[in-house]
Amino acid sequence: MRVAMIGTGYVGLISGACFSEFGIDVTCVDKDKVKIKRLQAGEMPIYEPGLEDLVSTNVVAGRLSFTTDLKATVAAADAVFIAVGTPNRRGDGHADLSYVYAAAEEIADAMNGYTVVVTKSTVPVGTGREVEKIIRCVRPDAHYDVVSNPEFLREGSAIEDFMRPDRVVIGTKSQRAKDVMRHVYRPLYLNETPILFTSRQTAEMIKYAANTFLATKITFINEIADLCEVLEADSQDVAKGIGLDGRIGSKFLHVGPGYGGSCFPKDTLALVRTAQQSGQPLKIVETVVDVNDARKKAMAERVIVACDGSVNGKTIAILGLTFKPNTDDMREAPSLDVIAGLQRGGATVRAYDPEGMAEAKQMMEGVEWCKSAYETMPDAAALVIITEWNEFRALDLHRVKQLMGQPVMVDLRNIYNPDEMAAAGFRYSCIGRASLPPS
Ligand SMILES: NC(=O)c1ccc[n+]([C@@H]2O[C@H](COP(=O)([O-])OP(=O)(O)OC[C@H]3O[C@@H](n4cnc5c(N)ncnc54)[C@H](O)[C@@H]3O)[C@@H](O)[C@H]2O)c1
Repeated sequence: MRVAMIGTGYVGLISGACFSEFGIDVTCVDKDKVKIKRLQAGEMPIYEPGLEDLVSTNVVAGRLSFTTDLKATVAAADAVFIAVGTPNRRGDGHADLSYVYAAAEEIADAMNGYTVVVTKSTVPVGTGREVEKIIRCVRPDAHYDVVSNPEFLREGSAIEDFMRPDRVVIGTKSQRAKDVMRHVYRPLYLNETPILFTSRQTAEMIKYAANTFLATKITFINEIADLCEVLEADSQDVAKGIGLDGRIGSKFLHVGPGYGGSCFPKDTLALVRTAQQSGQPLKIVETVVDVNDARKKAMAERVIVACDGSVNGKTIAILGLTFKPNTDDMREAPSLDVIAGLQRGGATVRAYDPEGMAEAKQMMEGVEWCKSAYETMPDAAALVIITEWNEFRALDLHRVKQLMGQPVMVDLRNIYNPDEMAAAGFRYSCIGRASLPPS
């Protein structure tokens, strides 16, 4: 069994490395020559815990390789996975399928013998049918099936998610393609991971429904948190109280500055557009998109309020830039909105992130980049925690206080305890809980 992975980004690289760990021969292809050169030299182009070891073990074992040569790789493959990006199209928010369709054309041109072409990218319902048509058009003689196999891994715990998924979804009606996919996922099949065979459209829909549901859950608890603030209830206890209900579940009930990342924002918006175009608008998801966008923008205002109504001429220290911990991914990160809002208010921003700064530097201007958490703090008017990296959970509060002069913390992830912060002499503001003045 030989697998070709087209697109060696977060999903392609991690899936490719994990399939090779399953014992399959995998070649990861990318158009980005620099990325492939780095991978060939044993350097990871992204930060993901455990990835470097996984890749090097499988490269040494001869099961995993990297190339820009799509043609030769596809010709030798039994299954070709498309894992290219599907960003929102500029202007209208629909999923931009140009990378998927371009990859399909190249694959069609290179296929040799029966091939299963698998869309792992998140694609709108009906894309599999289009991919099938494109391949037929380029290669009327080709022998192939097009399968949908959406990916559910989360950055930061991606390897564990891939190796021990809650389920694998495979969309195809072809028995031959099902057999190939069973073989590719053999270790998961053997350890009785639920493998759900559906139609292609259903598999495509499952991915969007899953992401929009989770985005809705986050947005719901965020709105409840805002109400808790007004009514003097504690949203963290509310989340616990409802999360213990088995029908609700405790995951994705952490209040914060709004969801970001490479998936939820683009997938919610793309599904909204698909639904509108189909004449079946999804009012709930439309609202989720609007509420979350507004929330991310409103976070800067919380900092301004904590700074007595103005950040003009003040220095603000920012801890955490990535959209969540344990990744270097900055796509749609709430930090982008928070920092832009503070800069508009006249603040000087100093920032530190353990892994995200190389990316962040390409997306933001006018920020003073620091090499450690404490380097952000001297004389800052407020310290803002945007991403809950572990190293920010146990700051030396005495040192923080000394560096800042006037200790004001805005904790957008609720990683500190309001009573303890008050006792330590901080003016502490958090989300969905009573914010306490200094003792
Ligand atoms: N990142 C995640 O956490 C995640 C999780 C689940 C699903 N997904 C979905 O997986 C897909 C990929 O996401 P990603 O985050 O890995 O994207 P990414 O931008 O990190 O990587 C995409 C890669 O594809 C390459 N590429 C584009 N066209 C190509 C072509 N014709 N031939 C070879 N390489 C090509 C690009 O150079 C890039 O390296 C998206 O549809 C996304 O929605 C992502």
